[in-house]
Amino acid sequence: MTSLNINGKAVDIQAEPDTPLLWVLRDELHMSGTKFGCGMALCGACTVHLDGQSSRACVTPVSAAAGKKITTIEAIGDSAVGKRVQMAWAEIDVPQCGYCQSGQIMAATALLKAIPKPTDKDIDQAMSGNICRCGTYPRIRAAIHKAAGKA
Ligand code: FES
Ligand code: FES
Repeated sequence: MTSLNINGKAVDIQAEPDTPLLWVLRDELHMSGTKFGCGMALCGACTVHLDGQSSRACVTPVSAAAGKKITTIEAIGDSAVGKRVQMAWAEIDVPQCGYCQSGQIMAATALLKAIPKPTDKDIDQAMSGNICRCGTYPRIRAAIHKAAGKA
């Protein structure tokens, strides 16, 4: 058994230590907000925060997440920055199919916590690992600027 801290709560899980965190979130804990895309750290759909850093849950064994504060999309609105990002996403109507958007919001929130007023270049760099097959990139960029108070 491994003990994890997920969204501020201690959770005991049964999965083996080398099980990817994404599997634990979705299959054991039924937290389906974090998405499976590629399973190979290539798309960003599974992005969560580990101690505030964007991390790919599909390639993070639970043993590596133990002892860290895990934040998922279900609790991103609990922080002031995450709430601003969520509101900006809704106001700009960013999602198309929506599949990538949990990961996009997680990445955007980590960016704004690190760089409160990012430039377009900062945004492109920080978000380059989060793929959107619907091509919502211009709206993602606009929403990040809006959440930063620049638009
Ligand atoms: S599912 Fe983890 S990066 Fe694609
Ligand atoms: S909104 Fe469809 S993949 Fe990004």
